[in-house]
Amino acid sequence: MRLLVCGGAGFIGSTFARLRLREQGDQVTVLDKLTYAGREENFHDFAEDPGFRFVRGAIEDPQAVAAAIEAGAPEAIVNFAAETHVDRSIAEPDAFVSTHALGTYVLLEAARTLKGTGEHGLRYLQVSTDEVYGSIEVGTFTEESPLRPSSPYSATKTGADLLVQSYFHTYGLPAVICRGSNNYGPYQYPEKLIPLMILNALRGDPLPVYGDGMQVRNWIHSTDFARAIGHVLEHGAPGEVYNAGGPDEEANITVVRRIVELTGAAESQIEHVTDRPGHDRRYSLSSEKVRALGWAPQVRFSDGLAQTVAWYRENGWWWEPIRSGEYRAYYERQYGRSLQP
Ligand code: NAD
Ligand code: DAU
Repeated sequence: MRLLVCGGAGFIGSTFARLRLREQGDQVTVLDKLTYAGREENFHDFAEDPGFRFVRGAIEDPQAVAAAIEAGAPEAIVNFAAETHVDRSIAEPDAFVSTHALGTYVLLEAARTLKGTGEHGLRYLQVSTDEVYGSIEVGTFTEESPLRPSSPYSATKTGADLLVQSYFHTYGLPAVICRGSNNYGPYQYPEKLIPLMILNALRGDPLPVYGDGMQVRNWIHSTDFARAIGHVLEHGAPGEVYNAGGPDEEANITVVRRIVELTGAAESQIEHVTDRPGHDRRYSLSSEKVRALGWAPQVRFSDGLAQTVAWYRENGWWWEPIRSGEYRAYYERQYGRSLQP
């Protein structure tokens, strides 16, 4: 298949591009703005693949989108492009609104008007999140659960999902949505819990746990989520939503203690710090609908976490430039302290 992968220079988008090139023999054109989270280093092992192209540009820019479509002649658009960090959405929501609302709109218009091989438009897959359902103390969200987002990140992701659904209902655009739970794995930017804790543990920095650390997340390895997205793209019914949750749930403090063990850091590095405003207590996602299409997660959290720690240990070339760049200033603003050099 020929794919336009928007946001494919990020953590999950580059994982998806790598798997589609290698496992499916797809042709992949990535359109990415290269924000702080988008990095050409994420293509290091497939940049020269003859099936791969990269176009730098923003999804909210119709000319950049047209250029990427011209370059890749896609049969489908898969949209990963997003601002993805909840803490940044609390501090500075602007880019979340423009990328999720305007950017998704520009892509949908392109998909609708450039019909490609379909009668109603190009096949379109929106990558979304369990955070659109809000927090759940007991039980598990299904695709029928009400949408109750709580942060500027999740509210704008919800808005994008609703716009995608309106293009299916109004124009017949063959669009699907795939909502994932918390991803972890190689190439994740170290503002997120797991890579932040691994790098701080390795470097002897404090491990900043928000509040009591008893918030629960439903962890999925990025290769499992990427394969779920591919599966929904190929087998999902237009207009439908599919949840893809990981096999294991864990409290943050348990995850951090396990990272301490795996890295050989000291328990005394753990520090409880001021909680995130509006912090969702628990996420939990039922994946019955996508499992019925033949997908199942392969990586248990205990194995995936150990492999992820090993990857960061062995790939300092990937993260050392991040820890010495813009990220240092971000870290000081967010945590009120400096990182070790
Ligand atoms: P990421 O922050 O690592 O990557 C986002 C990518 O989008 C970057 O390459 C960035 O440069 C690009 N981008 C941002 N704004 C853009 C714009 N306006 N135009 C073009 N490119 C732009 O994020 P990720 O963790 O890989 O998440 C990818 C998608 O998966 C997002 O839509 C996110 O909401 C969703 N998701 C993430 C998780 C998770 O745990 N990380 C879980 C479920 C769903
Ligand atoms: O659930 C899917 C979502 O998972 C995605 O849609 C988001 O893009 C992704 O960022 C992630 O959101 P979270 O807010 O759950 O992830 P984060 O890694 O920021 O935080 C995970 C948990 O760890 C959360 O309860 C907050 C806590 N935390 C996080 C950081 C960065 C800490 O205790 N300390 C920290 O320093």
